[in-house]
Amino acid sequence: MRIAIINGSPRGKDSCTMRMAVPLSQGMTDAGAQVNVLHLAELKPLPCRGCFSCWFRTPEKCVIDDGYNEALASIAVAELIVFAGPLYHYHMPGLMKNFLDRTITMAEPWMVPDQSRGGISKHPPRGKTINSVMLVSPCGFPEVRHFKPYSDWFKAYAQMTGLKWAGEVLRPMGELLRAEEMQPRLAGYYTDLRAAGAEVVREGALRPETEIKLQRSLVEGGAEEFRAMANRHFAKILG
Ligand SMILES: Cc1cc2nc3c(=O)[nH]c(=O)nc-3n(C[C@H](O)[C@H](O)[C@H](O)COP(=O)(O)O)c2cc1C
Repeated sequence: MRIAIINGSPRGKDSCTMRMAVPLSQGMTDAGAQVNVLHLAELKPLPCRGCFSCWFRTPEKCVIDDGYNEALASIAVAELIVFAGPLYHYHMPGLMKNFLDRTITMAEPWMVPDQSRGGISKHPPRGKTINSVMLVSPCGFPEVRHFKPYSDWFKAYAQMTGLKWAGEVLRPMGELLRAEEMQPRLAGYYTDLRAAGAEVVREGALRPETEIKLQRSLVEGGAEEFRAMANRHFAKILG
């Protein structure tokens, strides 16, 4: 299985997102997959101009010369796409949205009924390689329900575009992944992430119980302890 991880964190390689994605991809590799990571903070994709040149004048190619076409060529050969990035205002960061909007290059303009989904209209995909999608996301707050709008949106996106949903790895308290003093307490979490990566490759999707296990609190006292820790940290910075 070929897998592309799209890292949409503006922090790039030094992000909570990558602290999740690295062990996950190690597990994927353990299970025999080939993993390719695209850091959008390096690509800096510009917004789609809505010119539809990629449909009518330069088929498949975006006219914006910012490296998008080359980056897409490297991920379009994957069967599984992992959208990895932080939760920003209950949704994806702008970098990720810029990239996602540009992937309109991957569809043909025709409107056809999708018989497998009750005849709803869709644009046929140009390539048939990508068949499933997965979400990986850290957030700042301690409760997993902050992800609900984003998770619901992503599942709907997968369904509407005819992609199989391969699961989600959601990480409340995400900033703890970058705290050096936390690292000894995170060994078990990273081991579970690695096992989850292998699970996705072997089974085609994460098991629901694996998703829930990976959402567990990283501190014993749950949200209350986490808020107190965070507020002490903020007070120290603010002086
Ligand atoms: C502009 C902005 C918006 C954010 N919005 C949310 C939010 O809606 N909910 C939340 O829990 N955290 C929010 N956060 C916190 C990030 O999700 C959190 O810091 C995450 O761990 C960053 O991951 P990264 O290092 O991979 O970029 C926001 C951060 C920024 C900078």
